[in-house]
Amino acid sequence: RDLHGVACAVITLSDRASDGSYEDRSGPLLVEGLQALGGSVSAAEVLPDGVQPLARRLQALEISGVRLCLCTGGTGLGPRDLTPEALLSVGGRRVEGLAQMVRSLSAQHTPMAWLSRAEVVQLGQMLVFALPGSPRAAAQCLEILAPVLGHALAMVE
Ligand code: MTE
Repeated sequence: RDLHGVACAVITLSDRASDGSYEDRSGPLLVEGLQALGGSVSAAEVLPDGVQPLARRLQALEISGVRLCLCTGGTGLGPRDLTPEALLSVGGRRVEGLAQMVRSLSAQHTPMAWLSRAEVVQLGQMLVFALPGSPRAAAQCLEILAPVLGHALAMVE
């Protein structure tokens, strides 16, 4: 249980889930996964796709002391897939190795993994991950990251 007590947040990016025409299953799966690792999930939300709403939330979450934020959805090549752009718009430092790790280990499940523009950014004491949107992909990505999350967070303290 590498994340014992770590303040975590989960944000689902989806126009259709945020207007209620679609049930978000990825967010709840990530919440469950974080809790299983010992994390304390203080926020779980659904936002429409787009740069501004997510950028604003990330700034507020960092100020409120969240240390780990997992975003799911909006990493693909569609016109409204803007999650990586939102992460980068807030500033902070890119952690390219973790994004590469997610893509390359995901590719053991499906070659479509290379289509995800997964991104990881360090904003002060918070690590933010942009993970793909399908429930299966989101769960697989958290499994891939689990072995390194605890150490990564210890380093940013
Ligand atoms: N990663 C894992 N681990 N498992 C998957 O099934 N699906 C991919 C990819 N990454 C997948 C995955 C697919 S089909 C797409 S289109 C991209 O993530 C982008 O997804 P998104 O636009 O929902 O973020």
